[in-house]
Amino acid sequence: MKSIVILISGRGSNMESLLAAVAAGSLPVRVAAVLANRADAKGLETAAAAGVVTRVVEHRSFASRDAFDAALAEAIDAFSPDLVVLAGFMRILSDGFVRHFAGRLINIHPSLLPSFPGLHTHQRAIDEGVRVHGCTVHFVTPALDHGPIIVQAAVPVLDGDDAASLAARVLAQEHQVYPLAVRWFAEGHLQLVDGRVVFSAPQDSAGALVSPLARVAR
Ligand code: GRF
Repeated sequence: MKSIVILISGRGSNMESLLAAVAAGSLPVRVAAVLANRADAKGLETAAAAGVVTRVVEHRSFASRDAFDAALAEAIDAFSPDLVVLAGFMRILSDGFVRHFAGRLINIHPSLLPSFPGLHTHQRAIDEGVRVHGCTVHFVTPALDHGPIIVQAAVPVLDGDDAASLAARVLAQEHQVYPLAVRWFAEGHLQLVDGRVVFSAPQDSAGALVSPLARVAR
C-alpha cells in the first residue's frame, strides 16, 4: 500500500477528510505522518487523536527559506512517502524542495486555477463578479499555485455571497475531491505527460473519474 505524508499549517479540515476516507476504507493509503510548520496548528491535535504520527518543523526556527525547506524535506524523507500532500500548508516552497519531490507533491487550492492563484481567492472571485468558482488539486511546480491539474470542482457564486459563505461552499467540495485525487494517485491512475495529467484508468472505469458535481447549499 502506498504511504503519504500530509503537510498542514492550521485547521486541517482537508487533512481530516483524508483521514476520514482512509478510516472509511475508501482511500487505500497509509498516512505515515502529519507534519506542520507551526506547533499551534489545530490539525495536529486532530491527527494525534486519530493515532497518526505528528511532527513539527517550525519555520521560524530557521534563518532562511532554504534551511527550513531542507529540514522539512529531511523530516518528510524520514517516512519515505510515495506522495506528499499539501493540505492548507501556508509556506512558499523553494525550487529545490519542489524538484526533490517532483511528481509526488500535490496541493489543493481554493480556486479554479489558473484563475486566482495566491491568497483571498473567495473575496477576489466575488469582486470580479465571476459566476463559477471552486477548487483545484494539482501537482506542484516551482511557480506558486501552478502545475498539472488533477481534478477541479466548481460551485456557483450566488447573489448575496460573501467570502465566508463562498469559502464554505468551496470547502465542502475540497473535502470531496482531495481524497479522490489521492486515491487516483495511489491506484496508479495519474500519469504526467508533457506537463499535463493523463488518466491511465481503463476506459470502462471512466465513470468513476468524473469529478463530483457541486451541490448548491442555499
Ligand atoms: C483550504 O481552503 C485549502 O484549499 C487552502 O487552505 C485551506 C486549508 O483549510 N490551501 P484546512 O486547513 O484544510 O481546513
